[in-house]
Amino acid sequence: MAGDTFEVLVRERTELAAGVIGLELVAPDGGALPPAEPGAHIDLILPSGLVRQFSLCGAPDDRAGTWRIAVLREPGGRGGSVEVHDEVAADMRLRAAGPRNRFPLLPADDLLFIAGGIGITPLLPMLAEAERRGSRWHLVYGGRTRASMAFLTELARYGDRVTVVPQDEYGLLDLDGVLSGAPAGGRVYCCGPEPLLQAVRERCDALPQVTLHTERFSAAARDAVPEGTDTSFEAVLERSGKTVLVPAGTSVLKALRNAGVAVLASCEEGTCGTCETTVLQGTPEHRDSLLTPDEHAAGDLMLICVSRSRGPRLVLDL
Ligand code: FES
Repeated sequence: MAGDTFEVLVRERTELAAGVIGLELVAPDGGALPPAEPGAHIDLILPSGLVRQFSLCGAPDDRAGTWRIAVLREPGGRGGSVEVHDEVAADMRLRAAGPRNRFPLLPADDLLFIAGGIGITPLLPMLAEAERRGSRWHLVYGGRTRASMAFLTELARYGDRVTVVPQDEYGLLDLDGVLSGAPAGGRVYCCGPEPLLQAVRERCDALPQVTLHTERFSAAARDAVPEGTDTSFEAVLERSGKTVLVPAGTSVLKALRNAGVAVLASCEEGTCGTCETTVLQGTPEHRDSLLTPDEHAAGDLMLICVSRSRGPRLVLDL
């Protein structure tokens, strides 16, 4: 939720693979952190104030009440992963929000998991859950080199249900071969870099018998905003008792910040969900590329970094 954060303690920092570190997070008072379903992620507020999402990669029963994340150092990224690698150490306290789950593991008899590099993280707890449910499943895990691929030791316990494909040994994943045997009614869960997601999407479009689930990391193309719809309106913050004018051309997020209201945001382009806010009254005009059509139609949630109001007033749970 856009405003609610709490403190977490980094209990342990470990090297998981070349360029990948793992952090174990616990509640500083020794209590339990909120439970998370497989596929869930958290928002972590880094020492600089940057907010980044990280998938939780601990199995549901594994050290209940603690969270595990894995972070790939991405020097060409937006700075968050490098900051985690360079600045975050054991015993440090950070603030966090969540967990939230936009990548849930739905019931299916047959599951195919496809991971590219650090995309293994949300899939790892799904494997444990698939085992628990007694589903038939297989994981195909690609990476640049074996040394750069996290969790290989942990995955070894699953035997031949896991196929490890380091690119320097075997080349790129043979997606046509991997997907050709996908059984009718099965679900494909894929996480990794955008070119992998795109390649899997294209192939699954031609396979009506399977349902593909991915996480979106970048904004989808949006229709142009109809002329005249970008008008000013009032945002009433129910819990803090404030009313803020949102001028035309200014996002709700910016207007709130300008008014001194602290709200959590990360991508600021309607793709990550960090700024998700409950709408108590009024009708949002959705401009995000994350919420589902059903969620848009329901109108009780909005991403305040991009979405606006259809009417003169929105009442928000802030
Ligand atoms: Fe990412 Fe609003 S900050 S969706």
